[in-house]
Amino acid sequence: MIESYNKLIQGNKIFAETKKFSDPEYFKKLSLGQTPDYLWIGCSDSRVPANEITNTQSGEIFVHRNIANLAITTDMNMLSVLEYAVRYLKVKHIIVCGHYGCGGVKASMTNELHGLVDQWLSNIKDVYAKNAAELENIADIDERADRLTELNVIQQVRNLAKTTIVQRAWKERELHLHGWVYGINSGLIKDLCVIHDGQEDIDAIYRYKI
Ligand code: CO
Repeated sequence: MIESYNKLIQGNKIFAETKKFSDPEYFKKLSLGQTPDYLWIGCSDSRVPANEITNTQSGEIFVHRNIANLAITTDMNMLSVLEYAVRYLKVKHIIVCGHYGCGGVKASMTNELHGLVDQWLSNIKDVYAKNAAELENIADIDERADRLTELNVIQQVRNLAKTTIVQRAWKERELHLHGWVYGINSGLIKDLCVIHDGQEDIDAIYRYKI
């Protein structure tokens, strides 16, 4: 019996051969280094793979994923990825991509206990509390979760805008922050148009007065 994980090893062989067939230098070129233009902060959900849904290749997107695509400014893991991407790789765009039907967002709307994840999801509960008036006007629970998904993405983009890493980059160069939501149903990304590039009048909201 073939162990199920062998499927991955066999799949990898097909991947490597296919790439080499279309470009014999493909891996040699990739081994020289990476210069991605994008940092992607997405959900760990297996149905939202950054490269696959954006039709991009290895080397194009620097990726950080966690449950419910959170950018928590005390999370050393996220901050390390952010600093490396911004300061050293000099990415031009940072994309927070949530997705409709997110289990993390749905779990945050209940009081069930699942474990450590509930502590992590308390960050989304804060987003809910902040927007309770709007959210509780939405009777359908799935629609409410979808709106919370959008509001959560917007909040994470704001969190990124407040980091010293992003603020410092804005003093020196262009850097654009984006908030998107992917529809697992449709395969399409919705741009929430919460672009921040440090140029608009957001000083009072996001910029620290030094
Ligand atoms: Co999710």
